[in-house]
Amino acid sequence: MEIIITPDYEQMSKTSAQIIAREIRKQHDLVLGLATGDTPVGTYKELAKTHKEEGLDFSKVTAFNLDEYVGLAPLHENSYNFFMEENLFKDINVNPENVYVPQGNTNDPEEFSQWYEKKIKEAGGLDLQVLGIGGDGHIGFNEPGSSFASRTRVKALEKQTIEDNSRFFEKEEDVPRFAITMGIGTILEAKKILLIANGENKANVCAQFIEGPVSSQITASALQLHSYVTVVLDEAAASKLKRKDYYNWVRDNKHLVQKKVGR
Ligand code: GLP
Repeated sequence: MEIIITPDYEQMSKTSAQIIAREIRKQHDLVLGLATGDTPVGTYKELAKTHKEEGLDFSKVTAFNLDEYVGLAPLHENSYNFFMEENLFKDINVNPENVYVPQGNTNDPEEFSQWYEKKIKEAGGLDLQVLGIGGDGHIGFNEPGSSFASRTRVKALEKQTIEDNSRFFEKEEDVPRFAITMGIGTILEAKKILLIANGENKANVCAQFIEGPVSSQITASALQLHSYVTVVLDEAAASKLKRKDYYNWVRDNKHLVQKKVGR
């Protein structure tokens, strides 16, 4: 895992957008996995800006979102479909035919999940998956206890997740209790993974998934099993890491590291 600690949210957003842009420039038909939440909003703004000012071309990119609330139609203002449209898709030149976000109002979530997996496979698999992290250590909506072999499916949401995400809804009772989410197994098959996190409220969980044991109780810790993960944090989210000095040395000596380990 490469850990890049940045001073603040703005720089975290810029750094993560640069990483995504670099991959798109290298491979125009990149298969890009995307996340929702407050964390990636700044990253998506930066990507939209890079598209507008530098012509970053999304026309051949295929996008797959991680998850969606069960029961919410794509036009519902709290749906992740709506979120993606508002925060990214409307500002870039991605082809709507190449955009996939799980369908929350499907009649048959199980069948839908299998179809979603098939679509990812047909696209050639995820090249780069962008992730945030939930307060209970989840990636996507893979709540504690999720199998590391899990595929896209319906998950029941943890109490803490419902509380955390209630800020987007009028009242807590409005937060759906279930979501369709890519599985940990689906995420781990991405060729590269980029996780971003900011704020003090993510500090404990970041220390746990980066430096703690691999455990399905903190599902982000499954990323320790992946060979190409980049984590971009702000200072606050990194504040409980024990090996900060080491990560910063690697970051600041990138030229030496690239020469030796080719990354
Ligand atoms: C939700 C999403 C996750 C996201 C998490 C954190 O639960 N399913 O993909 O990472 O929220 O959200 P935020 O970035 O708002 O803290």
